[in-house]
Amino acid sequence: MTQKISVIGVGYLGAVHAAAMAELGHDVIGLDVDAERVAALQSGRAPFHEPGFEELLRRGLAAGRLRFTTDYAELAGADVHFLGLGTPQRADGTGADLSYLESAVDALAAVLPARAGAPTLVVGKSTVPAGTARALAARLEHVPGAQLMWNPEFLREGFAVRDTLTPDRLVYGIPSADGSAPEQDPRVRALDAVYAPLLEAGTPRLVMGYEAAELVKVSANAFLATKISFINAVAEMCEATGADVTDVAVAIGMDDRIGSRFLRAGVGFGGGCLPKDIRAFLASAEQHGVGEALGFLREVDTINERRRARVVELASEMLGGLGGRRITVLGAAFKPDSDDVRDSPALDVARRLLDAGADVTVTDPAARAGAQRLVGEDRFVQDTDEALHGAELVVLLTEWPEYRELDPARTAGLVAAPRMLDGRTVLDPAAWREAGWELRSLGRGEAP
Ligand code: UGA
Repeated sequence: MTQKISVIGVGYLGAVHAAAMAELGHDVIGLDVDAERVAALQSGRAPFHEPGFEELLRRGLAAGRLRFTTDYAELAGADVHFLGLGTPQRADGTGADLSYLESAVDALAAVLPARAGAPTLVVGKSTVPAGTARALAARLEHVPGAQLMWNPEFLREGFAVRDTLTPDRLVYGIPSADGSAPEQDPRVRALDAVYAPLLEAGTPRLVMGYEAAELVKVSANAFLATKISFINAVAEMCEATGADVTDVAVAIGMDDRIGSRFLRAGVGFGGGCLPKDIRAFLASAEQHGVGEALGFLREVDTINERRRARVVELASEMLGGLGGRRITVLGAAFKPDSDDVRDSPALDVARRLLDAGADVTVTDPAARAGAQRLVGEDRFVQDTDEALHGAELVVLLTEWPEYRELDPARTAGLVAAPRMLDGRTVLDPAAWREAGWELRSLGRGEAP
């Protein structure tokens, strides 16, 4: 049955969620304070690179099931309001900044009509420290009929549409999971009605307390970050002993208890989520007096940073110093199939190489604007061949398919010297060396 839905905050998460809810047949209005973003979405233009999103957006708009606004008053008629606002790292590093969420809840509360019958649901989707939902619920207490739930989002950039429409699980956080059948709870029933097509397709739905729902999300991201830093720590051992980390990763990944995903060694994790989420998780643990228990996350962060420094060190070794040397960095986005450069390992390394005096050129298929902002307009070259021209060292830092599939012989003809530093451990060392390249890969040591 069609539900009237609002999505407040149509950044990455919110915009995809809004379009996905329209795809499920609901009547959706998305709100953002950024008028330019609202105008772009309303005209069917995706403000970010995400496969399949623009089609979904246009379908929703054309069917009249999706529209966007900057005016809270227009949300008053919706039955379910999703909160998709960002929770950036605070400037002073003391955890997540919840001010966007708090202002949105206050602005929504001011326009919500008092309801006696069915509840007006307010459903948080943002990644937040435990305790946030309870505090936000208190801000809604004066609105009769308003009920807050926490329903974390697990989408990955690059797979956002698929992850939203076919998630691994749905998690519902309610004020207290008292053990009574969730089916009796009017809030659960109301959210089930929104996700009915997903539930009918067999998606597991878990109902738990607010704090558990909040912790599911941050622990999932912390676990993923830990897995990456774990394999990157092993990668350092591989470099030191002459082993190949991809051999180790494939073999340990075949144990079901470990699993093969998120064991790709390389320059480490970046993006708008994993780095900020592990820091916020740690900060939140400290505030709850259990900082020591999560102290290993500091090490996860440190290992991740070390990989970036290691690339710079290797580059310097390969070139015998960095000053004035022509280096081409392949990749600027924090991962392929994204134009997101937030905490991008590739751009961080490019910046460090520049700071060390190298003459750096950066190229990326999608992240032009972000790269230009962070390394300077004149440092970015869109065309891969042109970017490679004259390089004394090529550093692969985002594993876009076009870089993984570069032909070593042809590429050798473009550069000034055939030196490759594979920062994502994705190139076939034998093939590149056969074509005359000096190749070093993170996590692949020289055999003794
Ligand atoms: C991450 C989580 O994977 C999502 O489940 C979560 O919903 C999302 O954060 C979020 O909190 O919003 P995302 O940031 O889009 O998603 O990107 P990932 O695919 O997790 O990649 C993160 C970083 O880890 C990238 O820089 C990637 O290159 C790196 N990575 C990933 C590795 O270095 N090795 C791997 O094996 C996997």
